[in-house]
Amino acid sequence: MFNPIGSSVIKIDELDSTNVYLQQISGLQTVDEGMLIWTERQLSGRGQQGNSWYSKEGESLTFSFILSPVFLYADEQFYLSKAFSIAVNQFLVRKFQLKAQIKWPNDILLNGNKIAGILIENIILGNKLKQSIVGIGININNRVFPEHLKATSVYLNSHCNVSLKECIDEIIPLLNEMYSLVILKQWKEIDRLYFDSLYGYEKVLRFYSDHYFNGRIVHVDNLGYLHVETDAGVEKYTFKEIAFC
Ligand code: BTN
Repeated sequence: MFNPIGSSVIKIDELDSTNVYLQQISGLQTVDEGMLIWTERQLSGRGQQGNSWYSKEGESLTFSFILSPVFLYADEQFYLSKAFSIAVNQFLVRKFQLKAQIKWPNDILLNGNKIAGILIENIILGNKLKQSIVGIGININNRVFPEHLKATSVYLNSHCNVSLKECIDEIIPLLNEMYSLVILKQWKEIDRLYFDSLYGYEKVLRFYSDHYFNGRIVHVDNLGYLHVETDAGVEKYTFKEIAFC
């Protein structure tokens, strides 16, 4: 089986951002597919939508790996997001017995607080993917967070102090397992696992998009659109168009 993720695992003491570092070195030299870079001291972590990602030395797990998913069409790229959010969620559920859930599109939440985040940066050539840099941040041993963040950690929920290297070693097989489903284009299986862990799936929730309304998440499609059903029918939303209340 092709298990590229973690083909080499490199720890660097301090980096601005593991995503940016991989972007820079892959622009300068050929890097092996699956190379994984991690650091215990990430100084300017990047989050989704231009946000920053908070991390603390020795407490936060911060890593990125590089892939060449040249077999994927641009309109299939959200399956990478689905697959890796399933893997991160499985890691938290299986290793720490936490009741974590995926919040659309790919946040990982525990009791309404964010415990992990994923930032995937793709390069597209024509209608196919050329390169993906997948960055993952998981709050492992964190004791406290800045007040404005609705965040939590493994430590705050299980009181165990965990080795970050051990987490890397244990999450790699889960990431590879999910990536092989992407390689095989097992969309139904990925969807089944994603919807199984999706916060609010098939439940009535309160949303805001121009106005407040109640609706039920009925689908997330291959482009990542959230499909919400109300009495008026089913509407599709992109990330910026809708908020959970
Ligand atoms: C999010 O906003 O939810 C995505 C957060 C992704 C954070 C990780 S930490 C490792 C990698 N390097 C970065 O600069 N960002 C990602």
